[in-house]
Amino acid sequence: MVKIKNIVVLTGAGISAESGIRTFRDTGGLWEEHSIEKVATPEAYAADPELVLGFYNARRAQLSTVEPNPAHHALGRLEKGLLDGGGYLTLVTQNVDDLHERGGADNVIHMHGELLSQWCRACDSKFKSRDDFTTSSVCPKCDHIGRVRPDIVWFGEMPYSMGAIETAVNNCDLFVSIGTSGAVYPAAGFVQLARGMRKQTLEINLEPSEGSSFFHDSRLGKAGELVPIWVDEILEALT
Ligand code: OAD
Repeated sequence: MVKIKNIVVLTGAGISAESGIRTFRDTGGLWEEHSIEKVATPEAYAADPELVLGFYNARRAQLSTVEPNPAHHALGRLEKGLLDGGGYLTLVTQNVDDLHERGGADNVIHMHGELLSQWCRACDSKFKSRDDFTTSSVCPKCDHIGRVRPDIVWFGEMPYSMGAIETAVNNCDLFVSIGTSGAVYPAAGFVQLARGMRKQTLEINLEPSEGSSFFHDSRLGKAGELVPIWVDEILEALT
C-alpha cells in the first residue's frame, strides 16, 4: 500500500462549530439571521457599508472569546507530523477565523479571506488589525478615510489561491473535506477535481454534505471527536 504523505485538507464552518462559532446553513446558522445579499456581496458594501462593516466587526470581536478545539489542534499536529515524515499538509480553509493558526497550523490557505486582515481600496494594501472599522476609519498605510474593507471574499468575487490549491490537489495522495456543507463553489468542486486526478477522498462531517456521493469514504460525527482519531491513524501509518 502507498504511504499517505501528502494531504490536502479543506475545512468549513463545521470545524469551528464546537469552538462556538456559528455555521452558515445549519439550523440557527448565520444566514438565517442575515441575508447574504445584505452583508456578503460587493453590492451590499456599496449600498450600506456601515451595515456590512458592522457585521464583520461583530464576527472579528468574537474571535477573542473563542478557542481552537481538538480538531484544530489535531490538524496542527498533522502538519508537523507529515513534515517530519517527509510529507506535506496543505490546509485550505473557507473559514475566516484564526482558529487553525491558533491550533498550531503554520501554513493555512484562507481561500475566503480573513477577519483579521483588512484591505484598503485606495492604496490596495492589506494589513492586520483587530479593530472595529467604520466608514470613518483611516488606512494606516495611505491615510485615506473610509476606503478600508474587510479582506473577505464576498459572493461574486474570486476566492484566493485557486492555482496553488489545484496544484496541491494534483500533488496529494489524499483529499479530505471537514465540516463543510458542499454548498458553495469552487470549494464544493474540489472533491470532483481530486476524483478527476484519481486521488483518494474522505469526508468528515456531522451529516452527509451535498457532495457526499463523490467521496470514497465518509465519517459522520463531530469534527472535534473524529478528526483527532483520523490524524492519529495517518501519523501511526507513517512510522
Ligand atoms: P455551512 O454552514 O454551509 O456548513 C457547515 C457544515 O458543517 C454542515 O454540513 C454541518 O453539518 C457541518 N457541521 C456542523 N457542526 C459540525 C461539527 N461539530 N463537526 C463536523 N461538522 C459539522 O458552512 P461552509 O460549508 O463552511 O462563504 O460554508 C461555505 C461558505 O458559505 C462559507 O465560507 C461562507 C458561506 O457563505 C462566504 O461567506 C463567502
